[in-house]
This record gives sequence, C-alpha cells and structure tokens, in this order.
Amino acid sequence: MILVTGGAGFIGANFVLDWLAQSDEAVLNVDKLTYAGNLNNLSTLQDDRRHVFVRADICDQDAIAALLNKYQPRAVVHFAAESHVDRSIHGPRDFINTNINGTFSLLEAARAYWSGLPDQKQRDFRFLHVSTDEVYGSLGADDAPFTETTAYAPNSPYSASKAASDHLVRSYHHTYGLPTLTTNCSNNYGPYHFPEKLIPLIIANARAGKPLPIYGDGQQVRDWLYVGDHCAAIRRVLESGKPGEVYNVGGWNEKANLDVVHVLCDMLDQMDPKQSGSYRDQITFVADRPGHDRRYAIDARKIERELGWKPSETFDSGIRKTVEWYLAHQEWVGDVQSGEYLKWVEKNYNQRTAEKEAT
Ligand code: NAD
Ligand code: DAU
Repeated sequence: MILVTGGAGFIGANFVLDWLAQSDEAVLNVDKLTYAGNLNNLSTLQDDRRHVFVRADICDQDAIAALLNKYQPRAVVHFAAESHVDRSIHGPRDFINTNINGTFSLLEAARAYWSGLPDQKQRDFRFLHVSTDEVYGSLGADDAPFTETTAYAPNSPYSASKAASDHLVRSYHHTYGLPTLTTNCSNNYGPYHFPEKLIPLIIANARAGKPLPIYGDGQQVRDWLYVGDHCAAIRRVLESGKPGEVYNVGGWNEKANLDVVHVLCDMLDQMDPKQSGSYRDQITFVADRPGHDRRYAIDARKIERELGWKPSETFDSGIRKTVEWYLAHQEWVGDVQSGEYLKWVEKNYNQRTAEKEAT
C-alpha cells in the first residue's frame, strides 16, 4: 500500500484515480478536506476496497503515526498543501501551518515509522514530496528555464512556504537518510481543477456570463502541463528516482495568460456557442496580483534523460480534453461553488475591480 496525502484535491485525486486504474496496489488517502478537498472527485472509487479514505490533518503527528503503523505503507506521496497564491496573499497563516508545520509533522511521523522498519523495507521506503516551480521565483523574458540547481527565490507566502517544506525534506534525507524524492512541477490543468485557479475559473465564468478577470496586462507566462502527465511523472519518480534527488517536471508549454484565455474563449465559441457574440467579449482587466511573478518555465531534461519521462499531451490536446470535461461535468462545478467559494470570489474580485476602476 502507498499513503497519499491531499488525495481529495485536484492533483491528488487525479493521481489516486490514475494509480488505481493502472495498479492493484491499495491507496491510503489522508486528507483534511479543506475547501479544496472534495470526495466527489473520488466518487468512482466508492465501492473500491483498494481505496481507504481517512479524514485527518497532516499537522496531527499522532494521527499520522497511528495510520503509518496500522497500514504499513511502502511509500508516502505528499500532495497535501494550501495551494492558491491569491489566498496566501489574503491570509498566509494556513499556508505556514499546513505547508511548513504539516510537512514537518509528516516527516517526523515518517522518520519514526521508517526507522522501525526491517532493513530491506527501510531501503525500499520512499517519501515523495510534491512541490512547485514557484520556489525558484520569477524569470525574465530571455532567462533560461529553471533547472534543479536554480537558486530558490520564492516571492509569495505560498511559494515561500513550499520552499521551506522543500528544505525540510532535503534536510531529512541529508541528516537522517530518509529516502526522499522531490518533484518541482509547473502549472497543471485538467479535470477536477478547483475553479479558483485561472483555467477552470475562466471556463466557469464564461459559461455563467460573468467577467473573465485578467490580472494586470495578462502577459505573465506559465508553463502548462496536463495533470495526467504530472501523475505519470510522479509514478516514474516513485518507481525509479534516486533518493535525495530533485526532479523538475514541466510541459515545455509556455503561454501568456491572455493567450490561454483566448484559446479557452475560442474553444467555447466552437463547442458551446453563445446566442450572440464571443466569450472574448467577457474579458475584463483587473488589478494585478501583488508581487505577481512574471514568468515560470521548467527545464525538464533531467527527468526525461534519467527516468525516461516525457509529457504525452500537447497544450492543444490537453486543453481540449479539459474543456470537454468541464462541459460534461457542470454538476461538479456547481457543487464546488459553495458558500465558502462565493465569499472568496467577493473578497478577491470585488476589491480588484474597485482598485482597477480607481486607477
Ligand atoms: P489543491 O488545493 O487542489 O488540493 C490540496 C488538498 O490538500 C486538498 O484536498 C486539501 O483538503 C488537502 N489539505 C490541505 N491542507 C491539509 C492538511 N493540513 N492536512 C491534510 N490535507 C490537507 O492542490 P493541488 O493543486 O492539487 O496541489 C497539490 C500539490 O501539488 C500541492 O502540494 C501543490 O503545492 C503542488 N503543485 C500544484 C501545482 C498546480 O498547478 N496545481 C503545480 C505544482 C505543484
Ligand atoms: O506554477 C505552479 C503553481 O501553479 C502551483 O504551485 C500553484 O499551486 C498553482 O495554483 C499555480 O499557481 P499560479 O498562481 O500560477 O496559478 P493561478 O491559476 O492562480 O494563476 C495562473 C496565472 O493566471 C497567474 O499569472 C495569475 C493569473 N490569473 C489568475 C486568476 C485566478 C488571472 O489573470 N486571473 C485570475 O482570476
């Protein structure tokens, strides 16, 4: 069995579904079910005995220790985190608690469990930490993409908290010999993506006839990777990655935000046309994100060369699948747009629109 943290969120749920579609090894899924955790993402596993779900907080070291001792997993794959940059700007505390203290508690529980394993099981054990390219900071237009040796320069409370967690993981390998693996991945998109993030927010707002908010000039660049490709990379690193190593994961798909939004509008114009006009008419420029990183880009040659992983989706194929998924799962979108979600929309966007109008 493997233990997955945060397996009810966007990437974690995709990972659990992919894992169980390809292997019979059971998954112990440990998730606190914050606003971002959604058991509907896992509804197809309802009667599947290979999936054990436990609601728990990774900050609760005793609870995690008890689960490790009871289920004896051969690996921990750690997704659980507060993941939204804008939320980290409005309120960083949860990010410090979960991303730093939570990762620390999880590492402590894992170290105690791993220390007590017999030799061969100790050697085979893995702690895979899922991290982000944002820890490397922001690139200029002509800078080379981030490699595994790029110096850390996080700019938001979110990326600073992820950077801190990466350092803790590194130290547990270096100091205690815990067999850790770290992946730093670029922006994901695909099914079950919570509609606070750019791509699902644009699809949901477009269809609801609402403004499509573009921060600043919309020329910030992200390197987009289809979530299924990220899951495949994590499986590959878990299987063949060298303990103590870091692997950058990315899609070689750099796009400016405004271009991504144009693609989405044009695709929706084709697949779900409005009565009149184009979805592009709903594009609205709003105040920029404070400290907004201009460009991210990943150099993924190490994982390609050493582990033979390559993305299988292009941006065109992945974004088409994504739009089709959202059109076919309107109920899912409606369900996650709960009371808490509406409060967030009011807090983030009303203020931005007012700021933009004042300039
Ligand atoms: P998400 O916000 O969709 O999901 C996070 C999950 O973690 C949720 O299910 C939530 O309930 C759970 N969680 C939060 N705090 C917890 C706690 N204290 N204890 C237990 N569970 C808790 O996030 P995501 O986009 O799926 O990201 C997953 C991981 O991948 C994160 O570590 C993130 O930093 C990293 N990452 C994300 C992206 C991306 O583009 N989304 C890219 C690179 C790396
Ligand atoms: O790079 C990996 C990171 O990608 C992950 O570590 C994070 O967990 C994940 O949330 C994502 O961070 P971003 O900040 O890049 O993603 P987000 O979808 O929030 O924003 C993408 C870009 O779009 C960013 O430049 C901000 C912009 N944006 C976002 C929103 C929500 C807008 O212009 N308008 C919006 O309404």
